[in-house]
Amino acid sequence: MGLRKILTDKEPALHKTCREVTNFDARLHKLLDDMRETLIDSNGVGLAAPQVGILRRVVLVDTGEEILELVNPSLLETDGEQIGAEGCLSVPGKYGLVKRPMYAKVRAQDRYGEWYEAEGEELIARCFCHELDHLDGILYTEIMERFLTEEELAYDEED
Ligand code: CO
Repeated sequence: MGLRKILTDKEPALHKTCREVTNFDARLHKLLDDMRETLIDSNGVGLAAPQVGILRRVVLVDTGEEILELVNPSLLETDGEQIGAEGCLSVPGKYGLVKRPMYAKVRAQDRYGEWYEAEGEELIARCFCHELDHLDGILYTEIMERFLTEEELAYDEED
């Protein structure tokens, strides 16, 4: 186990397309274990492998009930729309206004290569889309409407 350093948005690794995972071996399991530890340590909702400098199609999403390990994930279905605040561990201290589907269903492999499906609404749907974008080198800052202002952030913290 070990914490990995989270790269910030100036790093080239965050702007590249990640490769598929083909070996479901001890090295992948170590990456997933380290990413899980790093996600918990940073109080994030999701983490993608390129954020720790690994250009492979691997993301974690914390649903609130469990931390899903999504290997080679793809979006199967989306529905509805939500516009709300979104942040990223690679863009520390900032939040943007981003439009996402209200519902998303994904298909992915687990750490042993078994395919499964997962679905979620609101924050979870937002997180699926955000993390999958990371695998194609896309940060929310490239698709957001605008950054939230200091005043808007201060207001949110009072809620
Ligand atoms: Co992110």
